[in-house]
Amino acid sequence: MPILWRPQLSVGNEIIDRDHKYLFCLINTVELVFGKNKKSKDIELVLDQLEEFAKEHFAREQKIQTDINFPYFLLHESLHNELMYQLEKIILNIRIAYLRCHTDPEAYDIEIEKLHKVLRHWILDHVLKHDLGMKKYFQIYEIPEQNLVQYFTKNTVDAA
Ligand SMILES: [Fe+2]
Repeated sequence: MPILWRPQLSVGNEIIDRDHKYLFCLINTVELVFGKNKKSKDIELVLDQLEEFAKEHFAREQKIQTDINFPYFLLHESLHNELMYQLEKIILNIRIAYLRCHTDPEAYDIEIEKLHKVLRHWILDHVLKHDLGMKKYFQIYEIPEQNLVQYFTKNTVDAA
């Protein structure tokens, strides 16, 4: 069943909300691709996009957090690092299991299930419990307009 972003999930910042909406779509795409044909070549493409977007999104969110003096920045950064570590590890394991899926389909299925779990955790635990904690700080601090462009430059991603 697809997951849908709802207004109750708004953190009060348009840029982060937009990223989260895209994240939900991307997770739905991952589920769709794996659900349709586990041996599809599209799997490589969707995993690349997921990994790339996760890095960009975490970097963007953290840059915004520093701009609003989010007091739980360090904790949040460590949660992102942990999530990214898990995601990269599972994606690597899926790529390896994919190559061996003809001889060991069970191992491949286990890795796919791990990926689904991490993605659900990202939505249900991280977005709902931790990202929503930013909401009240967006009501206090206003982001200077000149900062907006930085959130979408390559440097922001590289600096994370
Ligand atoms: Fe976050």
